[in-house]
Amino acid sequence: RLNAGQTPFFEPGFEDLLSRTSARLTFSTDMADLADATVHFLTVGTPQSPSGAADMTFVDQATTNLLPYLHEGSVVVGKSTVPVGTAERLRAMIEPTGARLMWNPEFLREGFAVQDTLTPDRLVYGVSTGQEDLVEVLDQVYAPILERETPRLVMDFATAELVKVAANSFLATKISFINAMAEIADSVGADVTMLADAIGHDPRIGRKFLNAGIGFGGGCLPKDIRGFVQRAEELGVGAAVSFLDDVDQINLRRRARVLDVLSEELGDLAGQTVALWGLAFKPDSDDIRDSPALDIAENLARAGAQVRAYDPEAMGPAAARIDKAGLAGHITLVDSAEQALDGAAALVVATEWKQFRDVDPHTLDARVVVDGRNCLDRDSWKAAGWTYRGMGRR
Ligand code: UGA
Repeated sequence: RLNAGQTPFFEPGFEDLLSRTSARLTFSTDMADLADATVHFLTVGTPQSPSGAADMTFVDQATTNLLPYLHEGSVVVGKSTVPVGTAERLRAMIEPTGARLMWNPEFLREGFAVQDTLTPDRLVYGVSTGQEDLVEVLDQVYAPILERETPRLVMDFATAELVKVAANSFLATKISFINAMAEIADSVGADVTMLADAIGHDPRIGRKFLNAGIGFGGGCLPKDIRGFVQRAEELGVGAAVSFLDDVDQINLRRRARVLDVLSEELGDLAGQTVALWGLAFKPDSDDIRDSPALDIAENLARAGAQVRAYDPEAMGPAAARIDKAGLAGHITLVDSAEQALDGAAALVVATEWKQFRDVDPHTLDARVVVDGRNCLDRDSWKAAGWTYRGMGRR
């Protein structure tokens, strides 16, 4: 599919980039086709294993399969998010071939992947002592980015590996912090959005990643904090990051909170019909990995509600997961946001797609709306007769 210029997932700008660069891109499933390359990027996933640790199967397999094609002068560049210590382990596998290893963590966000790749905030290079000459190799690869004076930091392997999990842990902590404040705000009738605006004006705090709601999901933040806790425990320093367990728990409580708010408004959810806008873990993505929206759909179904769900891009992946969970009879995927509302007593907005934020509530029959992302204009929904419930908002 990639050779035919088709993208295997939805990512704004990616298909266009793929077609513009197709003359210089070929895709293969045969490692032998890479034998001529000098620089080999390792970009495979490290999903969560049942223990919570990162599953290293794909990284190990890719490295092992690459070994026969490496030689003096080859450079392997690790980009996967890995437990600290992995690069040293891979180095021992790679160096007998004469090739050398660098570690170059990736910080792109889904939905902004093209922009973040071409104009990153910074580049991080991990190199082992005495191999600083490798910096020149990556500098050539990234020349157009470096010309724009993008900060480039060179460090040892362990630090480079840690930078990645530390960054994601910090972001997850920031989101859970504001969601913890949302819990408090709900208990005293305060407004977490105003609180976030007010503390966010302090440049030491910053307003970004302080949006309270149903919390973080996706293939990165949840599994990275769990993997970090596991790795720190293995290293005997688990206490240092045990707060990340709380970050995880606060985050998961947000999903339950939506059902509580709905019960407050509707009473017993069994037999009720609920409309759900959004299934992807964030807008501008069709990714449903650890999606809070899909979790809420499934929990509503298990509570006996009938869910009518719509997402602009994630319907295909969501349908497969709903089928697998045996919930197809309880969660109906419909063709539009308006159709989701047919017969529904309440609407839950679970992913802040622009088309949902832009809806004029006056064009819809008023009922209860639970704004799981605090992304709607509360006043206009109320003016249109809706009972508005935000997350941590008066
Ligand atoms: C995240 C990091 O932001 C990237 O820097 C990193 O490279 C990537 O993981 C990765 O490790 O590959 P991503 O998972 O694409 O990127 O998405 P984010 O934009 O970080 O959002 C994660 C989740 O947090 C989403 O579910 C989003 O809805 C939620 N979120 C974000 C909030 O609930 N509140 C906020 O204020 C911000």
